[in-house]
Amino acid sequence: MIPLRPFFFVCGLITVAPAWANDEAAAEGLPFADKLNACAACHGENGAKPILPEYPVLAGQHANYLANALGDYRNGRRSNPIMAAQVQALQLSDGDINQLAEFFSKQTSGLTILDKK
Ligand code: HEC
Repeated sequence: MIPLRPFFFVCGLITVAPAWANDEAAAEGLPFADKLNACAACHGENGAKPILPEYPVLAGQHANYLANALGDYRNGRRSNPIMAAQVQALQLSDGDINQLAEFFSKQTSGLTILDKK
């Protein structure tokens, strides 16, 4: 029953998001583990098993790539309503972005390089 848990978490996140948006201090105080849980709702545990095929795998991606992508969602250079909402609701700071990027880059995923034979 793995698919149900992320679904309920997403519902919770959507319900709670407006409160966070109005209370930056509360969002800033969110522990790192809670931020990771938010990511897991879509990208799967450790960013390795996204809940939908069009959601990217984060596990094992280069840290600087992940950090750049998150920064770009935050400043609007990369435009995606789903991720822009995450970055905003969680009030991700530079420190959060670097910590999250570092964490996901160290996780392993089932991705492999295809043999071109
Ligand atoms: C509600 C679902 C959802 C949640 C929660 C979520 N993401 Fe995403 N994420 C997406 C989708 C969808 C995309 C693809 C967006 C695009 O095409 O630009 C994405 C893309 C990304 C990318 C770019 C990956 C790439 O290969 O270019 C990064 C990095 C990322 N997310 C990190 C995070 C982090 C860190 C969190 C937690 C703080 C998080 N996401 C939470 C849905 C989500």
